[in-house]
Amino acid sequence: MTVTPRIRPRRLRTTPAIRRIASETRLHPGQLVLPIFVREGGGPVPISSMPGVVQHTLESVKGAVADAAAAGVGGVMLFGVPEHRDATGTGATDPQGILNLATRVVADEVGDALVVQTDLCLDEFTDHGHCGVLDVRGRIDNDATLERYREMALVQAASGSELLGLSGMMDGQVAAVREALDGAGFVDTAVLAYSAKYASAFYGPFRDAVESTLDGDRRSYQLNPSNRREGLREAMLDIEEGADIVMVKPAGSYLDVLADVAAASDIPVWAYQVSGEYAMIEAAAMHGWIDRKRAVHESVLGIHRAGADVVLTYWATELAGWLNTGD
Ligand code: PBG
Repeated sequence: MTVTPRIRPRRLRTTPAIRRIASETRLHPGQLVLPIFVREGGGPVPISSMPGVVQHTLESVKGAVADAAAAGVGGVMLFGVPEHRDATGTGATDPQGILNLATRVVADEVGDALVVQTDLCLDEFTDHGHCGVLDVRGRIDNDATLERYREMALVQAASGSELLGLSGMMDGQVAAVREALDGAGFVDTAVLAYSAKYASAFYGPFRDAVESTLDGDRRSYQLNPSNRREGLREAMLDIEEGADIVMVKPAGSYLDVLADVAAASDIPVWAYQVSGEYAMIEAAAMHGWIDRKRAVHESVLGIHRAGADVVLTYWATELAGWLNTGD
């Protein structure tokens, strides 16, 4: 005997047009942010573990941000790769340091077309590669690091960054930076808190990208991948401390945390699709094991569907191009 279903969800999947109108989630170029690396010295230099991504020079970065702006990307997040590093990361607070110079160049180039953002963290500038300064016993000195972050915030704001990405995972960093900015009159400079940043293996290629000198790991400050509630707690604390936007990172392996934060937050929630997430898809696609374009789109769509208003992704410009042409 054949059973005739009365309820047929497949009705809304029958044609491309009905599938399109029944889409619950849509990506828009303005919801994408492109992370960009700018190195001191020669280049551009390709990053072998991130095919298609390069360390830009102060010259080549102009083309990259112009392309992003032309594709309608919402913003760019700048990272500096300095030539010299030291214990306290002085390059980070030098107005002539690579990140601050790059910020000026990018702000001049595309400052009106998209949001210019900067990574506010010491790891690219310290010789030990940690996100903070160390005490005499070699441990992270949380509160001394906050002083360095406050100084970085002022230099970055003065260089033209509109949104500071606090990625160091020090306790109290949002309040410290907000107070420093307000005290110096930078009341309109916004704070993006990397609230729930997990100690992840998926940052591997990024460490190549910034030529990280880290020996060891970041588990004393980044979150334990086992902890879901703690991710939400960190986001709530950052909201209390005055964050304008909170973020979950990495994205793909932390969609539960992202959904929790999105449900509880009354400010925008972003997610960072990190270097390892990028590298995995690129590598599989190079082998012909997955359809690159579909995998890229689906991976970012999934992050948006889980609750991210905006996604930082190394595919931002390319994906925006596909979205614009309806590909
Ligand atoms: C720290 C920072 C990291 C990333 C962004 N900001 C590296 C880390 O915490 O080790 C990783 C981004 C990525 O993997 O794409 N400044």
